[in-house]
Amino acid sequence: MTKVLVATEKPFASIAVKGIRQIVEKAGFEFALFEKYTDKADFANAVTDADALIVRSDIVDSEIIQAAKQLKIVVRAGAGYDNLDLKAASARKIVAMNTPGQNSNAVAELVFGMMIYHARGCFNGKSGTELLGKTMGLHAYGNVAKRVASIARGFGMKTCAFDPFIPAEAMENDGVMPVKTLEDLYRNCQYVSLHMPANEKTKGSVNFALLSLMPEGATLVNTARKEVIDEPGLLKMFQERKDFKYLSDITPDCAAEIAGQFEGRYYFTPKKMGAQTAEANINAGIAAAKQIVNFFENGDTTFQLNK
Ligand code: 3PG
Repeated sequence: MTKVLVATEKPFASIAVKGIRQIVEKAGFEFALFEKYTDKADFANAVTDADALIVRSDIVDSEIIQAAKQLKIVVRAGAGYDNLDLKAASARKIVAMNTPGQNSNAVAELVFGMMIYHARGCFNGKSGTELLGKTMGLHAYGNVAKRVASIARGFGMKTCAFDPFIPAEAMENDGVMPVKTLEDLYRNCQYVSLHMPANEKTKGSVNFALLSLMPEGATLVNTARKEVIDEPGLLKMFQERKDFKYLSDITPDCAAEIAGQFEGRYYFTPKKMGAQTAEANINAGIAAAKQIVNFFENGDTTFQLNK
């Protein structure tokens, strides 16, 4: 019997797991759940007889691929797939997919959650600032950025975006002003929100040269990946610009240095929280389950990443 394994170090909400199980079992497949593991060896052990695998940010590297002797498909229930070794999957003819757009709203809402929390001094009772009338810059314009733009308009913010892969017209149709260069984006926005994937081109790309262009009192918001930040540049920015603030959905490697010196100018979630809502878990988890059933039943490879 085809076995579908959900392997999530950070578990889905139980209602999402229930929905995934229903879809898998209705298709006549076996469902297995492996959650909250702490040891990679246990993960490798759990995948040995799985035909299909659903993961979140779980690292599916060549070791896991090798251990997964029966694996035909792996679906990352979410957007970013920097945790999947696509080369190793392709070498074994394993189809790798993601579920784009399914958790975008959750991540976009967290952007504003962090912004308001911090703009109001983490609710310390002192006078803070508002979002109304400020400019929100979107560094990359994918599904999450689109939702951020839409929510930003509700707050009365101006929105602009830079993305070399998206036509200016698409941004304009959403009421977002396209900017020609990344430098212009950082120069003109009180808030810059990061929405690019982590890949060889983007890793370390948000550096001091870019950050130092930001206007007085600017805030950088990172719900993308910590790897896109050049951390020495970030620390330099904290040191040289006493007005600069950084909000990040996942603690950077240099968190201890920041915490020791720049109190009140940062907020970091202890664990990646962006997609941690029941709705996002249901959307992404169920999409993953449906994609797997559709792959086995109809050979559907929509959303395949390693074509
Ligand atoms: C994504 O890329 O979809 C988000 O970063 C969510 O990741 P998570 O499923 O590990 O929370």
